[in-house]
Amino acid sequence: MTGNERRIHELRETRTLAAAELAALLATITPAEERQLYAAARAVREEHYGKEVYLRGLIEFTSHCRNDCLYCGLRRSNAHAERYRLTEEQILACCDEGHRLGFRTFVLQGGEDPAYADDTLCDLISRMRAAHPDCAVTLSIGERPRASYERYFAAGAERYLLRQETSNPWHYGKLHPVELSLANRKRCLYDLKDIGYQVGCGIMVGSPYQTWGHVVEDLLWMQEFRADMVGIGPFIPHRDTPFGNHAAGPIEDTLHLLGVIRLMLPEVLLPATTALGTIDPLGRERGLLAGANVVMPNLSPRDVRSKYLLYDGKICTGDEAAECRRCMERRVARVGYRVVEKRGDHPSWRDAA
Ligand code: 5AD
Ligand code: FES
Repeated sequence: MTGNERRIHELRETRTLAAAELAALLATITPAEERQLYAAARAVREEHYGKEVYLRGLIEFTSHCRNDCLYCGLRRSNAHAERYRLTEEQILACCDEGHRLGFRTFVLQGGEDPAYADDTLCDLISRMRAAHPDCAVTLSIGERPRASYERYFAAGAERYLLRQETSNPWHYGKLHPVELSLANRKRCLYDLKDIGYQVGCGIMVGSPYQTWGHVVEDLLWMQEFRADMVGIGPFIPHRDTPFGNHAAGPIEDTLHLLGVIRLMLPEVLLPATTALGTIDPLGRERGLLAGANVVMPNLSPRDVRSKYLLYDGKICTGDEAAECRRCMERRVARVGYRVVEKRGDHPSWRDAA
């Protein structure tokens, strides 16, 4: 047995490894060893979810953002970014179409846009839930006060995605302007968990200045936090940002991390992300084969898709929702899995409900 084979075995059995061991695994894993990692990750995924893959309909409802994160194409300093906002009626129409297409989760994602006040968001969430009582609403709208999170939850939102981006304060400072802090990001994540949301965190793989040490801090933090969902994808440069000349994160590193996260958090809801599909035409399929069990096709109206550009080269910007839905069905089936028309909650949530 090689050192890494032993590490993979131990990770599968005990669900964790010492920080130095995790870093060694990620830094030195070979193609032969990665096949073993993925096989273990698929076995664990299939113990909990069988061959099922959950769909999340992504509604990118505003491209306005008050933040200035150095990696993101929607940062406020990017004067080239085209800005738009969807109305409540447009968002509800996306949900109606999504429901017809078999989606049972809608993800409201946007920049941090103060134009959507809490009253507006609560009204929208309750209308979405009333129109489609068999569907879950996930929010991905950034840092807000705890009282706001409480109001959205009361209105019917049950899940929240907020990537920490990095768990290391120094690295956080390299990716964000001074007005943002890792402490507040984590405050938000703990508040969301405490309120009762299913919470997703996550990172970009290969972001500028990231080391394996940072990634290991992320992994151990996600486990300690008991993340219900983890969103990871490669960093991809956007030409109109300060990181426009940095290299994209490697797909192999991203796939290794998906496998490791599946072993550390066996029941986690783990998407094969759009960024993964952007750096490799078969990236999402490879993600599913490395332990992912969720896909997030785009449900945004076609005329706004090319304006929601977090990074260069984003896929699916010219496709109708129905096309993405069919495309995803085929892609999932080709690697031996099956798209299901279910809400796809975390198992601990079903027990609690
Ligand atoms: N490359 C990859 N992912 C990015 N995100 C933002 N900008 C980029 C980029 N350039 C990710 C962040 C954010 C999520 C919505 O998109 O991790 O949390
Ligand atoms: Fe959008 Fe393939 S998933 S076109």
